[in-house]
Amino acid sequence: MATQHNVLVIVGSLRKESFTLKIAKAFAEMAPEGFKLEITTLHDLSFFNQDLEAAPPADWVKFREMLQASSAVLFVTPEYNRSIPGVLKNALDWGSRPWGHSVWGNKPAALIGTSVGAIGTALAQSHLRNVLAYLDVPLMGQPEMFVKHDHNRIDASGNIIDDHTRKYLQTFVDRYVDWVKRHVSAT
Ligand code: FNR
Repeated sequence: MATQHNVLVIVGSLRKESFTLKIAKAFAEMAPEGFKLEITTLHDLSFFNQDLEAAPPADWVKFREMLQASSAVLFVTPEYNRSIPGVLKNALDWGSRPWGHSVWGNKPAALIGTSVGAIGTALAQSHLRNVLAYLDVPLMGQPEMFVKHDHNRIDASGNIIDDHTRKYLQTFVDRYVDWVKRHVSAT
């Protein structure tokens, strides 16, 4: 039986009409057979507090279980003040604890970002790469994808209406699929 890859897609924005969420959905629609993508937002995750490690709150347990059940991760992030949003850093911190029991290591991952700014998430992605390197996440290096959000590229319903952006996203998806398969077969 062919291997089923369960990918957890972590969206770094809580906004209802989030452009980041739209890109995550567009990505999921392009994934091939054999890849099951589950998109999660971080609405339900409380603030990390080291005091809670001894008696983990239910939202933390659920988040850890979702990560443990996934064979790969995709991060989709906006840029807030030239970095990643606090909710995403909070999730990274939760997943890394307790010490010695991080759920991040050895999960092949990639990241993608969208913002309205001219350098669309380049700095947020760079910060995220730093954290993921520390967390020992095998991270796809290339291609990178910085989607500048505007209505010539993505319409109000989240459809990618610009050919170049759609083709590039498909290339990114294909490379990610390959990255995950290679990593899984090597471990
Ligand atoms: C922003 N935005 C932004 N954009 C950017 O390119 N670089 C940045 O540093 C920032 N900083 C920033 C800080 C805060 C607090 C907010 C709320 C916004 C604009 C951002 O790209 C835009 O609001 C996106 O629409 C956010 O992503 P979602 O929510 O649409 O997914």
